[in-house]
This record gives sequence, structure tokens and C-alpha cells, in this order.
Amino acid sequence: MPLVSMRQLLDEASKGGYGVGAFNVNNMEQIQAIMEAARETRSPVIIQASRGARSYSQDKFLYHLMLAAAELYPEIPLVMHLDHGNSVETCKSAIDLGFTSVMMDGSLMPDGKTPSTFDYNVHATKEVVALAHAKGVTVEGEIGVLGGIEDGHGAGGTGLEHVTDPDQAVEFVEKTGLDALAIAIGTSHGAYKFSKKPDGSVLKMDVLIKIHQRLPKTHLVMHGSSSVPKDLQDVINQYGGKLKPTWGVPVEEIQLGIRNGVRKINVDTDNRLAITGAIRKVFVETPEKFDPRDYLKPAREAMKKVVAQRMTQFGQAGHAGDYQPIPLAQVAGQYN
Ligand code: G3H
Ligand code: 13P
Ligand code: ZN
Repeated sequence: MPLVSMRQLLDEASKGGYGVGAFNVNNMEQIQAIMEAARETRSPVIIQASRGARSYSQDKFLYHLMLAAAELYPEIPLVMHLDHGNSVETCKSAIDLGFTSVMMDGSLMPDGKTPSTFDYNVHATKEVVALAHAKGVTVEGEIGVLGGIEDGHGAGGTGLEHVTDPDQAVEFVEKTGLDALAIAIGTSHGAYKFSKKPDGSVLKMDVLIKIHQRLPKTHLVMHGSSSVPKDLQDVINQYGGKLKPTWGVPVEEIQLGIRNGVRKINVDTDNRLAITGAIRKVFVETPEKFDPRDYLKPAREAMKKVVAQRMTQFGQAGHAGDYQPIPLAQVAGQYN
């Protein structure tokens, strides 16, 4: 199956009332882990690469690994998505390479740190929509600013400093014509999201529900959605790691989001934790080993387990065979 437009995947998810996990990758083992989890659970899937991932993998390595994934797992609808594009140029280079979906994160300036103005965001996102839709490529935009910093990207702070304003969200969608909208409801990137288990009063689920009521046809995206499970933290610390106590986004809150228009759920940190814990375990328990396969295989397996669990929890499991991919050229025609 060729790489698929994210719009098609999210439209199908909306029809079926489920969410789709978008998992970050940097290398072959992470892609393999996701594809094996997708096969096992029969899930459509979004694989995403940040700017950091693109530079780590020299772009082309990642792209050809994605083509291999599409060839080896023909039964799985698979999207290749750019995570947090910081400028029109970054999005354009991803589209030129063959990504089937891009995020123009105009909530921040191109430095990836400074919160932008509404007008700047509209202008940049609209420009990417024109470029992308002409080729059938999907566009995700962001309004409001997430907390935390990953790989230098992010405004920092708690995640509650720039919560999305529903009126602005409506105006932003009308003015840009995007496909999917990332909103800020109190989550942040990385492992250190909350210092106690968050409940409905910490995460702004009321804001999410309001936005969905005002924009029932817009696919909502939740970033910073790792749950940071205690058991994954414990493995790392048991084998010499030094994570401070922390809480992520409870899966039940994500499921509430899915019942209220969330169709794409971004998860990276949970997989990083699973991989690191598995590698630390091999290093500590069998220090005589030095073949990278001895620790990369358990790392891949640990990530697969997390991804398969999320696919089931988000409801995408069982839906891989529901539809046939629409060629991108045809998708482009649908935007006119
Ligand atoms: O947006 C955050 C993702 O976790 C990607 O992180 O920029 O370190 O690759 P990264
Ligand atoms: P986490 O750090 O919670 O996994 O979030 C990832 C993300 O939002 C990528 O865009
Ligand atoms: Zn993100």
C-alpha cells in the first residue's frame, strides 16, 4: 500500500469514532516496532518525524525506511507526517521529499521557542495549506502553545500558560482551511508534565469540549499525550537511571478527548522510556554483551508493547482493513 493522506485516515477515524496514535521515530527499530504493533492489532497508523529526527536520519534514510514499511506491511494504512514544522520552508521540503502530511506549527516563531502572533500563524499555515493541498498532502496547524521543550523546540513553561481560546480556534480554522487542529489544553512535551496525577481540573477538557462543539468537523490533535507510566519509569530507575517522580496524561482523559473530536494523539516520550529501560536492563544484567542486537531487540519489543497497548486504548485497533487508500492526486482534487 502506498503512503496514505492523513486526512483520509482521520476522516475514517471520525466515522468510526476512534483516535489514531501518531508515534515519533528516528530510526529503523522504532519504525519496525510500530509496524509490528499495527500488524498485531490490525491498526491504521501515523508515523511522524520531527525536525530533529529528519536531521538525525539525514531525511532520506527515514523516507526509504518508511517506503520499506509500506511495502512490507501492505495491509496497514500508513501516514508519514512531519511533526512541528517550524516554517513554510521546512514543510515544503517535507512535501517535496514525500511526506503525506505536515504540521505547520505557527504557534511559535521559526526559532521554535517564541510564541507567535495570531496573524503570523494564520499567514504561515495558510501558505502551507495551499502548497500541501495542491499535492493531496494533509495539513495540521496549532493554536495555543504547549508546555515543555523537546530537542530545543517549545516555549517552555507548564502548558497552562497559553491554553487555546475557542473563538480564536474557530477563526483560525476558517481562515486557514487546515485539516487537523492541535490545541493546547494543559499538556506539555517530555516526561515532566505534572507533579501529581492530573484530573479534569488540571487538564482543560472543558476547553476541548467547547472547541469540538464549535468545530464539529475539524479533527482535533492532542500533543504531549504520553502517559509516562510508573512501570516504565521504575524499570529505568531500577537499572541505574535517575528519573524524578512524574505523571503524564491519563489514558482515560485521552479517551474522553476521543469522544469529543480528538482524532490524532501524539506519543513519543512513552516509547523513549520503554526503549531506554529495556537497554539499561540488558546492560546491567548482562554487562558482558556487546552485540547491539542484544539490546536493540528487547528495546524494539518494549516499544512495540507500548504502541500496541495505545492502539487498543485509542480504538484504532481492528480498523486497518476498513478502507482502501485514495491516491494523493485524487485527494488533491477533493480540496478544489
Ligand atoms: O515534539 C516533540 C517530539 O517528542 C519530538 O521530539 O524534537 O526531540 O525529536 P524531538
Ligand atoms: P510526548 O512528549 O508526551 O510523548 O508528546 C509527543 C508529541 O506531542 C510530539 O509532537
Ligand atoms: Zn508535539
